[in-house]
Amino acid sequence: MSEMADRFLRACRREPVDRTPIWIMRQAGRYLPEYRALRQRVDFLTLCRTPELAAEATLQPLRRFPLDAAILFSDILLPLQALGVEMAFTPGPTIAEPLRTRAQIDALAPRPAGEAVPFVAEAVRLLRRELDGRTPLIGFCGAPFTLACYLVQGRGKEGFGVAKTMLYREPATLEHLLSTLALAMTDYLTLQIRAGAQAVQIFDSWAGILGLEEYRRFALPYVKAIVDGVRPLGVPVIYFVNDGPHLHEAAASAGADVLGVCWRAPLDDVARRVGPRVALQGNLDPHVLFADPVEVAQQAAAVLARVAGRPGHIMNLGHGILPETPIASVEALIAAVHDFDGRRAAAAALTPCTT
Ligand code: CP3
Repeated sequence: MSEMADRFLRACRREPVDRTPIWIMRQAGRYLPEYRALRQRVDFLTLCRTPELAAEATLQPLRRFPLDAAILFSDILLPLQALGVEMAFTPGPTIAEPLRTRAQIDALAPRPAGEAVPFVAEAVRLLRRELDGRTPLIGFCGAPFTLACYLVQGRGKEGFGVAKTMLYREPATLEHLLSTLALAMTDYLTLQIRAGAQAVQIFDSWAGILGLEEYRRFALPYVKAIVDGVRPLGVPVIYFVNDGPHLHEAAASAGADVLGVCWRAPLDDVARRVGPRVALQGNLDPHVLFADPVEVAQQAAAVLARVAGRPGHIMNLGHGILPETPIASVEALIAAVHDFDGRRAAAAALTPCTT
């Protein structure tokens, strides 16, 4: 086999790779006509809860593009079923009864993820069989603070003012919710890893609404608890912090193998700030994919050049791919990643030997 099937896992561990691996956040989704066709037949929650269909959605982007990792098709809110939380997607999530009081939060009695969302473990098992060692499978969960934003606010559309207000008015109540979520997500990732997930990503999509001091108190310790909890299972952990240039040094101290970063800060700056002990994932602005293919290729090469030679880079966007993204741009992006490393290898071979 000439392809290096584990270049993604190797890059997570900052080991040498034949070329930079690439996968795309939200790579299964509405920019794919075959996903839209699947959604014509079933609603989003049914798709997530039916292992064969979730596996199908996971595999769709891999049939089209030579991606270096698959990510389980699900949503960060699904495992909150284990807390008895009811939700709907229209298409953004809505929580039926937002958690606004200490009594509601005290009453949460989490069930084991294996009982509450057995379909997730089943989808992971199906996928490992289908992928057959060709492409590694990433499992995921939401970070406690990001999940708390949705649980307290009820939805994401108008921002998270109610959640942030709880932080200042009732910090102990919020901390109680965050502890409950950290335990539930550790259990949920453990379920996915035991079923066969070969890496896991923790999505902290809303960490950036916090100042550094608030982040250190209300986000970081709960992510650290999850990272420490799954560490003995031995799979790489990626921690994605959105909108977080002011948080990178602190976020790197969560102990994840890989820090996933948004598009806002240049990757070489991030690399300098976090030091060599953590791999980096990112960070092309998803909007670049609306430019023509030549520009896409140039912008991708610019990201790669910023960390070329630094061990441990996984190419990705700086946030999820947008639903209107042209397929041709995704092709141009992946080709640019392949070309960049090809050119670097050729240049190295041509360098005259001076000794
Ligand atoms: O990456 C993948 O391909 C795997 C699937 C995946 C989904 N959601 C599917 C989805 C993953 C990893 C997520 C994570 C997720 N969900 C996050 C973290 C990532 C991020 O973007 O910051 C968040 C914040 C959510 C919550 C959520 N779910 C939102 C805000 C939305 C609406 C998104 C939108 O663009 O309208 C969803 C719904 C959702 N999750 C869809 C998909 C494919 C669209 C639903 C549909 O098909 O109608």
